[in-house]
Amino acid sequence: MPFNFLKSQIETLVSNENKTVDQRLLEICQLLEENIPYYNWVGFYFRNGDKEELKLGPYVGAATDHTVIPFGKGICGQVALSNQNFVVPDVKAQDNYIACSITVKAEIVVPIFVNGKNIGQIDIDSNTLDPFTTEDERFLEFVCKKVAGILN
Ligand code: SME
Repeated sequence: MPFNFLKSQIETLVSNENKTVDQRLLEICQLLEENIPYYNWVGFYFRNGDKEELKLGPYVGAATDHTVIPFGKGICGQVALSNQNFVVPDVKAQDNYIACSITVKAEIVVPIFVNGKNIGQIDIDSNTLDPFTTEDERFLEFVCKKVAGILN
């Protein structure tokens, strides 16, 4: 997996102050979706102000109806409360799961912390069963740290 190569690309993308934060986040989604074959939907959700809900940010992949997700609902809503990575090898085995597309078989969600607060997450859907390893977790934690650095 080209994770080291992608890390340096991420660093370059996030530090480009000629672009808005949302443009940079979208470019991260594009980079990941294009370079990692089992990353088929890549997007960001962020806490919606003071509300107990997540709002969809920049993403790449099929359009989703789930632009707002209450805390506690689905994999994303659970991560908003748990503050922990959630790796789902097989979405069919999850009760509290929100299906976005019938092609999705697995999902990984990694929270983003700013000043110790969980302010959002990166969400990846895969059309491959059980594709994610601890390497994906470490890589996505790196991505989330870099993203945290450009959010206020
Ligand atoms: N599957 C997610 C919903 C978001 S979509 O994957 C884009 C969940 O269960 O929270």
